[in-house]
Amino acid sequence: MRGRFTLRPSVMADLPFQIHVEFPTATPLKAPFEVRGWIASSRPVLAVGNGGGEGEWLELKPRPDVAEARPDSPHAVGFRGWVGSGALDGDALLLLVRCGERKHRVTLPLDPVQPPPDHLQVRQVGSVWGANFYPAGRQIFDQIADAFAQVKHPLTAAERVLDFGCGCGRVLRSFGEVNHTGEIWGCDIDGESIAWNETNLAELARFYANPSEPPTRWEDGFFSAIYTVSVFTHLPEELQMAWVRELHRLLSAGGVLVASLHGEHYWQRDPAVAAEVAQRGFAYRTGEATAGLPEFYMVAYHSIEYIRQNWGRYFEVLAHLPAYIAGAHDAVVLRRRADS
Ligand SMILES: C[S@@+](CC[C@H](N)C(=O)[O-])C[C@H]1O[C@@H](n2cnc3c(N)ncnc32)[C@H](O)[C@@H]1O
Repeated sequence: MRGRFTLRPSVMADLPFQIHVEFPTATPLKAPFEVRGWIASSRPVLAVGNGGGEGEWLELKPRPDVAEARPDSPHAVGFRGWVGSGALDGDALLLLVRCGERKHRVTLPLDPVQPPPDHLQVRQVGSVWGANFYPAGRQIFDQIADAFAQVKHPLTAAERVLDFGCGCGRVLRSFGEVNHTGEIWGCDIDGESIAWNETNLAELARFYANPSEPPTRWEDGFFSAIYTVSVFTHLPEELQMAWVRELHRLLSAGGVLVASLHGEHYWQRDPAVAAEVAQRGFAYRTGEATAGLPEFYMVAYHSIEYIRQNWGRYFEVLAHLPAYIAGAHDAVVLRRRADS
């Protein structure tokens, strides 16, 4: 489980270099789409582009991390850019690589997407996202990882990571696509999603169906990094604070928590909510329940001042990133305070 690159290593035996696609990992894809990955080669890599003959070239950058891991391949480069439909052949990605004097056409098989069942997608994200469910999760994963990187606490180097409220692994699944050194855990109150993860994502992470209220099964300080996407956006105030205390208990000294919140991007849409958030920093609105989830699971809004005042006893606010997650949720980056 530790340090593996992937659900789908794409290293080709008959090429004079190793090539790995980090994104996308699965088809079907709608063109144009973004491609990211790396090549480790003993000879200079001059260009990487669409293998379907459309003359689209990708940006190349050195990848010292890849070169360091492969001393026999000093010319390690990352590639990144957008390609059109010519770069796809069914479930395979076609790339053209100019390495030394030669051009190589490379066919890289991608996994066909197997998203969770429709009703679980609806429970997690409100509708059926199908083939886009995991690619969208990957974008969020990258944003969360960047937030950890900003405070010099890299997610992929954390010893134990928890995705709190992981649903059916939309974000967590990305750990299968990146090099990481830690042990990954996901938990959720939704036992059906946890059971699905245990069947379909068991090679990536361990899972736990937690109760609606703390405590959880883990000992104090079990995790060094915790992230949580769209969970505190749904909890009533008291339950929220109970979970803030529990996540504080679960983090080790100096551990970092990244949480998504409904910030101004959301509360400014409704004057009554905006007024309540302006007055006391928090609002909670009830409405139609989500099928399969408890009645408390509604909609919550926060101001950053509220977080400083109410979560501040447990966490130091290192950063507040408005409308950061998929251009919508705020992210707060928090460091665990020592026990008072
Ligand atoms: C909007 S979904 C997001 C799921 C996942 N984080 C993602 O981004 O795809 C919210 C999730 O929070 C879970 N949840 C709500 N309250 C929770 C709690 N107290 N502990 C763990 N999970 C909780 C729900 O079951 C649901 O799976």
